[in-house]
Amino acid sequence: MHTLHVSCIQLAILLFLLAQTECSNGTSAYNPNETVIITRCITTERSALLAFRAGLSDPANLLPSCNWFSGQQVPEFFGSLQNLRYLDLSESSFSGRIPPQLGNLSNLRYFSIGSSLDDIYSTDISWLSRLSSLEYLDMSWVNLSTIVHWVPTVNMLRSLKFLSLSCCELRTSPDSLLHSNLTSLETLDISGNRFNKHVAHNWFWDVTSLKHLDISYCQLHGRFPDELGNMTSIVHLDLSGNNLVGMIPSNMKNLCNLEELILMAININESIAEFFERLPNCSRSKLRTLLLPVSNLTGSLPAKQEPFSNLTLLDLSGNKLTGPVPLWIGELTKLTELELSSNNLDGIISEDHFSRLVSLESLSLNDNSIAIVVNSTWVPPFSLTNVQLRSCILGPKFPMWLRWQTRILNLDISNTSISDKVPDWFWKMSSSVQSLNIRNNQISGLLPSTMEFMAAKAMDFSSNQLSGPIPKLPINLTGLDLSRNRLSGPLPAYFGAPGLGTLLLFDNYISGTIPSLCEFQFLWLVDISGNKLTGSIPDCSFNTSTKNTSLNIVNLSSGNNKLSGKFPSFLQNCHKLVFLDLANNQLSGPLPVWIGEKLPSLAFLRLRSNMFYGHIPVELTKLVNLQYLDLAYNNISGSLPESFVNFKGMVVTRNYNNDDKIPDPFASATLFDDNEMIDFTDNFKVVTKGQEQLYTGEIIYMVNLDLSCNNIIGKIPEEIGTLVALKNLNLSWNAFSGNIPDKIGALLQVESLDLSHNDLSGEIPNSLSALASLSHLNLSYNNLSGKIPSGNQLRTLDDQPSIYIGNPGLCGPPLSKSCSQTEPVPFVQKDQEDENEKVFFFLAMGIGYVLGIWTILCIFLFQRKWRAICFSFYDSMYDRVYVQVAVTWASFKFYKEKWKETN
Ligand SMILES: *[C@@H]1O[C@H](CO)[C@@H](O)[C@H](O)[C@H]1NC(C)=O
Ligand SMILES: *[C@@H]1O[C@H](CO)[C@@H](O)[C@H](O)[C@H]1NC(C)=O
Ligand SMILES: *[C@@H]1O[C@H](CO)[C@@H](O)[C@H](O)[C@H]1NC(C)=O
Ligand SMILES: *[C@@H]1O[C@H](CO)[C@@H](O)[C@H](O)[C@H]1NC(C)=O
Ligand SMILES: *[C@@H]1O[C@H](CO)[C@@H](O)[C@H](O)[C@H]1NC(C)=O
Ligand SMILES: *[C@@H]1O[C@H](CO)[C@@H](O)[C@H](O)[C@H]1NC(C)=O
Ligand SMILES: *[C@@H]1O[C@H](CO)[C@@H](O)[C@H](O)[C@H]1NC(C)=O
Ligand SMILES: *[C@@H]1O[C@H](CO)[C@@H](O)[C@H](O)[C@H]1NC(C)=O
Repeated sequence: MHTLHVSCIQLAILLFLLAQTECSNGTSAYNPNETVIITRCITTERSALLAFRAGLSDPANLLPSCNWFSGQQVPEFFGSLQNLRYLDLSESSFSGRIPPQLGNLSNLRYFSIGSSLDDIYSTDISWLSRLSSLEYLDMSWVNLSTIVHWVPTVNMLRSLKFLSLSCCELRTSPDSLLHSNLTSLETLDISGNRFNKHVAHNWFWDVTSLKHLDISYCQLHGRFPDELGNMTSIVHLDLSGNNLVGMIPSNMKNLCNLEELILMAININESIAEFFERLPNCSRSKLRTLLLPVSNLTGSLPAKQEPFSNLTLLDLSGNKLTGPVPLWIGELTKLTELELSSNNLDGIISEDHFSRLVSLESLSLNDNSIAIVVNSTWVPPFSLTNVQLRSCILGPKFPMWLRWQTRILNLDISNTSISDKVPDWFWKMSSSVQSLNIRNNQISGLLPSTMEFMAAKAMDFSSNQLSGPIPKLPINLTGLDLSRNRLSGPLPAYFGAPGLGTLLLFDNYISGTIPSLCEFQFLWLVDISGNKLTGSIPDCSFNTSTKNTSLNIVNLSSGNNKLSGKFPSFLQNCHKLVFLDLANNQLSGPLPVWIGEKLPSLAFLRLRSNMFYGHIPVELTKLVNLQYLDLAYNNISGSLPESFVNFKGMVVTRNYNNDDKIPDPFASATLFDDNEMIDFTDNFKVVTKGQEQLYTGEIIYMVNLDLSCNNIIGKIPEEIGTLVALKNLNLSWNAFSGNIPDKIGALLQVESLDLSHNDLSGEIPNSLSALASLSHLNLSYNNLSGKIPSGNQLRTLDDQPSIYIGNPGLCGPPLSKSCSQTEPVPFVQKDQEDENEKVFFFLAMGIGYVLGIWTILCIFLFQRKWRAICFSFYDSMYDRVYVQVAVTWASFKFYKEKWKETN
């Protein structure tokens, strides 16, 4: 069979040449009547082809017009190419109904159509049964959802050797074949359909000629069927992602040809030792691949094990394995990938475990309690490309053996108890590493004098003790986390990493000024807070003729520095900004009126402890997503605009709930429709209840209005009660006057309420006693008078009398001064405001925890060819990576984008 892959233009030329003369390639001759392969056309090829076509008379009227490719139907006339033996449309972009005329191709041996991107369907596949010579049939991703009796149709194809109907939305599958015609069938892939039935009763168990069976993600359930034992020809078996429970059957022993066994994401829930026992002895030396991640395997790895002399891939990650890693692992001389991440393994791994692993390329031991103890002079026999040792114990000395690993692309030695100076060779060794993670150790020393020649795309050095200046960055860098170190000196004038997306430098000693961020078109997460930066953030000097003056920054944190100047006007270019923290600087001037218009997505605005002055611009209230406004400790004056109550972000209640779990990757693809996921740095401090608290992912639930320590005058707007989601309301140390609005009692979420040090007068509204969440209240130093309301919540507040101090007119408990009034009418709780605004804002989707640049580090683990399936994402690598790194929402987004790219 000829497999000839050509692009559109090549095909045109080829067909043209073939029509003139028979062209031979080595021993085989191509006949244009016999072979049609159509691959994707790219636009430039398309026009070249059209030009080419115009210049000659179409010989066999066979020249493909690229118009076919743009979502059109498979041409019916293909059905008239009677002699066609080979038809490959799998990489074309045809869509629509497959013409039943294809059934006329009685000589067809090879037929391949469909791909994940195109919407191809067939509602009646009886035409297939006429392709009596067919040996190879690949209709994966073709929508066959309306077809019930597909198995009898396929059963007509006596010569069939290869059948793939993966992801065809098939729903039925008969229990058995009375007379199987499929005596030659070797490969059957029906993965990713929804049969929703017991695994034991299925027609394919009758096809004992099968060598390759993939029934993963088919919604099959039950225990492993005994029928497996009759599949003695099987070489490759994949039952992943079904609802299978229990141990593999003992008659698996019969599978003497088994080379690849893939049982991911099922529920064996028995011991690994027993599992190994049941693997066929007769194929032990043939077994190449054993993928058992997330299969609920328990117990310890057996101390002794007959050799799997041909094993190249062993994945046991994400199980419940305990105990040490046995020495026989070191006997697997063909092993290229060893994946044991996310178990409860412990003990020591030494040179002896590795001494014969000459082929090893990928070693993943993340998240176990394994100590790797090797002689500092040890030179490993392998050359790894992927090293994942997160949370193992490598230290306290820097692991010297890494020095010899010069092919590494992904290196994760985060949280590995290293407490040492970074050796000079490390920068040389790691210069070709693309994803470099040494986070959370006690590594000291300097960064290299320049990193511009390093290949890194993501670097996470956070939470170490690195010192010295930040050098020029690797040119291809997209994510950098140097936070929580001891870096000093100024930032480089030119970062040298135009593709930078994440820049986390918080909590260092960096001084000097901030260079322009305008050159970074991809930057979306910037945290440079907690340094010693001075000066103002430079404006963008975009040439007016350049079209793209918009930046993609979503999160900018530069609090706790010594920045001066006005509110940075370069932010006018950051239309996607959600999160802005400029707190604790020396910024001054009025708040710009353009905030409301230029930053429509802004949800968190933290300007605390600066020297901003002037009124709160009315335009600010256009920010309907604003849920966090902190203007405390400035010189803001004037009164609050009435439209303050327009902050819808302060109306929708957010609660801690299951949203903040990592979503189930198999749950539903619709989760991915929300493109607007966002990360925060785990570096956000909120002042509430009189204390500063570090918030991490939960910050997205924080609804806060803090205007304390300014010179704001006038009344507290009566409608403040509309902002029912508020958890913290602090208006203290201003010059508010008038009454406390009665509607304040509607703020049922409020936990901390501080109105102290104002000129408020009148009585304390009874409604206050309805604030059941309240745990911190301060009304001191006003001119309040009358009886303090009684109410359960008010009684429980610990710092009782001081709440009311400095209000000479107040009386009643807890003050000693008594009143002579009658009991007030108890407050009747009002209807809550409409809280049903569901899709408030993407933050509500909440990731719950924060991952810094892990987002980016993750994607490098996805470098194998993608295979995303149907309704659930399904990819062997994907599942496994899911285990290896706690993949979060954000990486799904990357996954999705990556997936789009690679297709
Ligand atoms: C001949 O066929 C082989 C394999 O099919 C291919 O690699 C090679 O490029 C072909 N040569 C020509 C001149 O087309
Ligand atoms: C291709 O098919 C046509 C019509 O069936 C026939 O006339 C022609 O000879 C065939 N060409 C070759 C090279 O087989
Ligand atoms: C086997 O195939 C032949 C035609 O190839 C068909 O007539 C027959 O019905 C098939 N047998 C079954 C049991 O489907
Ligand atoms: C296995 O095959 C034998 C002989 O073909 C048959 O008798 C037996 O029922 C089969 N076992 C299962 C579990 O299908
Ligand atoms: C693993 O087993 C436990 C019971 O021990 C069960 O609760 C859990 O759901 C199983 N996990 C999977 C993925 O089936
Ligand atoms: C081991 O695998 C290789 C291919 O990786 C194969 O050629 C060889 O025959 C296998 N050995 C055995 C004993 O099956
Ligand atoms: C480390 O290896 C060197 C040379 O191979 C040897 O002399 C030394 O004793 C080893 N140290 C330990 C602790 O095994
Ligand atoms: C940066 O990426 C480009 C394109 O992928 C590549 O050619 C180049 O070698 C990379 N540079 C470094 C220093 O790795």
